[in-house]
Amino acid sequence: MRSIDLLIKNAEELITLQGTNHARKKEEMNELGIIKQGMLAIDDGKIVDVGSDLNYDAKKIIDASGKIVIPGFVDPHTHLVFGGTREFELDWKLHGLTYMDIKRKGGGIDYTVTHTRDASFNSLYQQGNKRLDTMLSYGTTTCEAKSGYGLNFESEKRILDVQNKLNKDHKVDIISTFLGAHSIPKEMNDEDYVDLVINEMIPMAKTHAKFCDVFCEQGFFTIDQSRRILEAGKKAGLVPKIHADELIDTNGGLLAAEIGAISAEHLLKTNEESMRKMAEKNVIGVMLPGTPFSLMMNEYAPARKMIDKGVPIALATDLNPNCYVENMQFMMQLGCFNMKLTPAEALTASTFNAACAIDQQEWIGSLDVGKQADVLLLDVSNYQMIPYHFGINHVSTVIKKGEIVRSNKK
Ligand code: NIG
Ligand code: FE
Repeated sequence: MRSIDLLIKNAEELITLQGTNHARKKEEMNELGIIKQGMLAIDDGKIVDVGSDLNYDAKKIIDASGKIVIPGFVDPHTHLVFGGTREFELDWKLHGLTYMDIKRKGGGIDYTVTHTRDASFNSLYQQGNKRLDTMLSYGTTTCEAKSGYGLNFESEKRILDVQNKLNKDHKVDIISTFLGAHSIPKEMNDEDYVDLVINEMIPMAKTHAKFCDVFCEQGFFTIDQSRRILEAGKKAGLVPKIHADELIDTNGGLLAAEIGAISAEHLLKTNEESMRKMAEKNVIGVMLPGTPFSLMMNEYAPARKMIDKGVPIALATDLNPNCYVENMQFMMQLGCFNMKLTPAEALTASTFNAACAIDQQEWIGSLDVGKQADVLLLDVSNYQMIPYHFGINHVSTVIKKGEIVRSNKK
């Protein structure tokens, strides 16, 4: 009998997400590839077998009776590294101030930029490290992280350096995105800053990040500026992503399709033509329901409509000082209760499609032979329980690259 490192057995549901190697669309999002009383064989950090009747001589056996087993959550949109927090904005929001009101009052991104620029490498590292610990305990095994609170060469580089060091040191894998075009720094005008991003920051970022992102929104970067930045990033080998159509519709979804972005995020106000083009070009719509929730907007992105039109959908936390959350289970809950996703769609959006949104589906996002053994045990008897029983952490064990890295007492 073959000897292996780890065998998981008796899972009430082993949710494999097997089936496609492209981001799932429409009805595919409901197909979870469930094996009842499932077993998973892991060796040397990788999945070596998946089924219901496996025979191995395992060094360690986990009995998953009463539990479900799923791929590790992937959080494909975070602003992980920032200095300072903005809890004082909560009172302002309660008094009816909008995101733009808060920006004008001295809060928002500018406030965080000041605190991030002032923070040392070590302080940013420690703060990011703590957030990653929280993510891991809630089952996130890979995340994307964006720069964007530096807004000058030195601080943007420092944030990317912090992310890359955290990626080496922490169990959670981090895929880096350069978001120099997050806002226009107070000391510069917009066109000069766009030039700085294109001519100086992108040449630095190409060796520090995989993606290039832009906050394309009124008061931030125009469609034309966003296009120039993303084109320059593309030339340098950075794959485009875009924060689009969050507060007003600027045809950001259309630009995402035109430029060949891997994903477009937020999309609360996106028009139908943009959705159609995104579906045609397979641009993944990354839904960030934590943001309208934290802004008390009572309005969410039209995820249901996008799925029906064939846009592949992922979920992400958008972890940032305006939306301070590390928990992907909560995103599934918001996705179901506020965007009318089915529990199966929300789970696909938080695992396989999320992996696709950061181009990692070859290694993670499903329980397939040959993939990295990033696996969760959840203390529920079926996957519908994840959104249904909300507000608690269902994760009991986190396995990263075949190693048990978290056991939450249940
Ligand atoms: O994704 N939209 C731009 N950036 C963040 C928020 C940044 C902030 O308010 O600090 C977001 O929502
Ligand atoms: Fe964001």
